[in-house]
Amino acid sequence: MPSPWGGCVGSNAREAFPQAVEINHIQVRDEYRGQGVGSALITAAEQLIGRQGLRQTAVGVADDNPNAKRLYLRLGYRSTGVFDVSGYEWATDGGTVRHAIERDQLLVKDLML
Ligand SMILES: CC(C)(COP(=O)(O)OP(=O)(O)OC[C@H]1O[C@@H](n2cnc3c(N)ncnc32)[C@H](O)[C@@H]1OP(=O)(O)O)[C@@H](O)C(=O)NCCC(=O)NCCS
Repeated sequence: MPSPWGGCVGSNAREAFPQAVEINHIQVRDEYRGQGVGSALITAAEQLIGRQGLRQTAVGVADDNPNAKRLYLRLGYRSTGVFDVSGYEWATDGGTVRHAIERDQLLVKDLML
């Protein structure tokens, strides 16, 4: 079956890691952070990706988000030195949609499923 995956959002990431399936826009409400929700979401996404027969996952993490980066490294992701600048929409806890632009480094993980 052909892969439904079309590549990472960032062009540098897509070119450097064409097989990596990017997990994007992870956000846990403030009051539930630090309780394992984010880790569980990432693990669930990795399992879904693995079930499609795909073997590498990726996350983009902003320069100014060392806490998220630490979490990804703990979950087995590694730094790649590949960066992209991208724009995205995100919602505040109150539901207001905001636009942001950030420079992300791609972190990748080889799935051992
Ligand atoms: C990053 C995020 C998804 C992690 O979700 P989570 O449910 O808090 O994650 P877990 O409980 O599984 O793991 C906790 C780890 O998350 C990281 N983390 C990042 N931001 C955090 C925050 N604001 N509060 C608590 N932990 C945070 C820490 O590394 C923490 O580990 P530590 O014990 O080493 O400090 C969540 O904090 C979040 O929504 N942050 C804002 C949006 C964001 O930055 N998304 C990631 C974009 S790449």
